[in-house]
Amino acid sequence: MKKQKTLVYKCSTCGHEEVKWLGRCPDCGEWNTFVETSAGQGSGRLVEGQRVPATSLPLSSIDADAGSRISSGIDELDRVLGGGIMKRSAILIGGEPGIGKSTLLLQSAASAETNGRVLYVSAEESAGQVRMRADRLGIKGERIELCCTGRLEDIEAIMDAVKPVIIVADSVQTLHSDEAGLTPGTVNQMKYCSYSLISWVKEHDAALFLVAHVTKDGSISGPKTLEHMVDTVIYFEQSDGDCRFLRATKNRFGSVDEIGIFTMGEQGLSAVEDPSFLFLVRREGELPPGVATAAVLEGTRPLLVEIQALTVPAKGAMSRVFSDRLDSARVARVAATLEKHLSLRLSDQDLYVNMAGGIRITEVGVELALACALYSARTGLPIPARVAIAGELSLTGEVRPVQRIAARIKTSANLGFDTFLGPQSESLDMPDKAVGDIKAAIKALFSDEKRS
Ligand code: TYD
Ligand code: MG
Repeated sequence: MKKQKTLVYKCSTCGHEEVKWLGRCPDCGEWNTFVETSAGQGSGRLVEGQRVPATSLPLSSIDADAGSRISSGIDELDRVLGGGIMKRSAILIGGEPGIGKSTLLLQSAASAETNGRVLYVSAEESAGQVRMRADRLGIKGERIELCCTGRLEDIEAIMDAVKPVIIVADSVQTLHSDEAGLTPGTVNQMKYCSYSLISWVKEHDAALFLVAHVTKDGSISGPKTLEHMVDTVIYFEQSDGDCRFLRATKNRFGSVDEIGIFTMGEQGLSAVEDPSFLFLVRREGELPPGVATAAVLEGTRPLLVEIQALTVPAKGAMSRVFSDRLDSARVARVAATLEKHLSLRLSDQDLYVNMAGGIRITEVGVELALACALYSARTGLPIPARVAIAGELSLTGEVRPVQRIAARIKTSANLGFDTFLGPQSESLDMPDKAVGDIKAAIKALFSDEKRS
């Protein structure tokens, strides 16, 4: 069947038009980006048309944007955002289906500290389904306006009428516009619609949440392309246990170090206010070999986490590291340091490392505890109970100082740890447990056992 003459092919990356399909766009050079579109249907880019021309101002004459943060009503979310929702900002929330993105944003929509209205755009669920979730969460939602469509033109008309201060678009994958090509769900549709919504909130002093589904293998080719358009990118992820973590990977208005920790219950998500003991395993008496407790920092909060290490003779010709919660390269480096400075043979062993509760740790302060866990696993000597460990390990075997050691010691003591093994520091008032290198650390931990 012959195609109608009014159809053209448009590059979904740059908007370039051709009368016939091409494998590669002659304008931007991308492959396989041509999609069928009606001729004359927009350029694929925003029409700049009647906008007021931009002007410049002396920097000194401009007032700072202080006080332009709105509390989301959820402390953990505020912390990850760097102190609340910044007005005129766009926040992308990514995560697997079912992790709780819609729940989190509905809870925030209901409790955000603002008098203005919140527009919840639910293109995935019907109004009745959202109402059911709201009932479950105990949300009345007087000031939440709900609209169940993914069509950009309709959403824009509603935004102009309602003038919301917070807009939630759930999800970006279901947004579509007639202007952005005939096929809904393409990257071009998503970018075009997101850009339109972002422009709207920047002009109207509002804030935007864009929800994006991300699949397990991290295939986020779609949402990934939005990351540079938004101000903040947050990922919601689940550990092996019950906890769900909120982490920023990009934040124009704050640090990316903080995490928010939640559990999902009958009444939706609730914050885990004191997470310091969550990643410990309650044990009576002696620890099994291979277990060490690290006092690490997550953002500014000290956490105690149990590291479990196991060494078994290598199954292949090469020793391998199996560690998905701690960077494998770090495990291999610490193992090499142990091998060199303590003459502990690890290069013929497969190394397995796990963290209790499934938390992922990236902080350097975990290294000394990791070394002790590997040593204990390899030698079969258990680390004495109630010892918390922190310190960075250099390649030369030295134990290097870490940040906020006083806070780590305090948290350890609060949780019933009576010994703290760490780098030499003024805050460490147990001189025998302040160690300069890995040899001294191992001696401090195991000398009693060896004597007996
Ligand atoms: P949801 O917010 O729909 O996830 P997403 O938007 O990321 O796809 O949450 C999904 C899961 O949470 C779902 O499996 C049901 C569960 N849930 C609870 O356990 N308790 C609750 O109060 C709510 C609202 C959901
Ligand atoms: Mg959802």
